Amino acid sequence: MPDATNRRILLRSRPVGEPGEENFALDEAPVPEPGEGQFLGRTVYLSLDPYMRGRMAAGRSYASPAEVGQPMVGATVGQVARSRHPDYHEGDFVLGYWGWQEFGLSDGTGVRKLDPRMGPLSYALGVLGMPGMTAYVALLDIGRPSAGETVVVSAASGAVGSVVGQIAKIKGCRAVGVAGSDAKCRFVVEELGLDACLNYKTQDLDRGLADACPDGVDIYYDNVGGKVLAAVMGHLNRGARIPLVGLISQYNATGPTPGPDLMPLLVNRALVQGFIVSDHPDREADFLRDVSGWLKEGKIKYREAIVEGLENSPRAFLGLFQGENFGKLIVRVGPDPTRSGD
Ligand SMILES: NC(=O)c1ccc[n+]([C@@H]2O[C@H](COP(=O)([O-])OP(=O)(O)OC[C@H]3O[C@@H](n4cnc5c(N)ncnc54)[C@H](OP(=O)(O)O)[C@@H]3O)[C@@H](O)[C@H]2O)c1
Repeated sequence: MPDATNRRILLRSRPVGEPGEENFALDEAPVPEPGEGQFLGRTVYLSLDPYMRGRMAAGRSYASPAEVGQPMVGATVGQVARSRHPDYHEGDFVLGYWGWQEFGLSDGTGVRKLDPRMGPLSYALGVLGMPGMTAYVALLDIGRPSAGETVVVSAASGAVGSVVGQIAKIKGCRAVGVAGSDAKCRFVVEELGLDACLNYKTQDLDRGLADACPDGVDIYYDNVGGKVLAAVMGHLNRGARIPLVGLISQYNATGPTPGPDLMPLLVNRALVQGFIVSDHPDREADFLRDVSGWLKEGKIKYREAIVEGLENSPRAFLGLFQGENFGKLIVRVGPDPTRSGD
């Protein structure tokens, strides 16, 4: 494809506070040629995730930042378009990490081949990928749920939270979600099967938690921090566990954020443990076996928010911080040969 162009979304500048569309630039470049040991991937789906806000900043977190003037980083599902790599052949479907662009090169590092029979290809970016594994490992290994316990999960309709709540139910727990709209809360209760859901934007959280968790909270799976974390603190049981997985409420903060009262952690001997999914590759086989089985059995439902077209990625990414996505946010960058109608 010598004349083909590769549309890319570059990081144009680093945001201060809330990012805006001005931080991104749409650009066109020639489609790159794979070198020896590389393959060229055609993007079918691009994942948009909250952690990308951290990659837009210059400071080193647990991963290095995206470079200004380069394509934004991100996980991709694609098809091998051309290959000079012995293990990847034209037509293979792969989970890769070549970022916000229509075509990308890979040397196979961190790439997983995908079998379309395991489910829709895009699931590798969500329920059967990094967010699903975050739900599974942090809930089971840090939360250690037992039947009869009460689990509260924030961002409960999202990519991570929706899987957390349903695994809590599979494990026999009472599960209570917290989400940012009545429609999301209805979905959490009526579709996902959680016992209750609180809208943190309109409800008194303290009173809502008292009603929804009459026996207190044994596990709080925290995806957001801030006022939801502060409210749950007052309802913790002795021996409670808090997988501290995400703090999206403060990703755009420009100064110190008001902290919650941590005294209940102390008096209840509660354990708070930070969590990074990439530390747990040894759990991937268990995760894929269990969650794909639960999907097939209909025990886990999964919702995606699919946006059409690479050019709409910046706008959709910014919506993550307003709760505009309802389900795992994915961009369809090119046709998906495994779906009829594409
Ligand atoms: N530690 C790890 O290894 C790891 C891995 C994956 C994800 N994470 C974290 O897990 C969390 C969820 O990620 P996800 O991929 O599943 O995203 P998601 O839930 O699909 O989308 C983000 C959601 O966060 C909520 N939100 C946005 N701003 C908020 C605010 N100020 N206060 C409270 N809630 C807010 C919104 O839902 P509402 O409308 O319900 O507010 C939004 O839809 C994020 O914090 C992410 O960074 C951590």
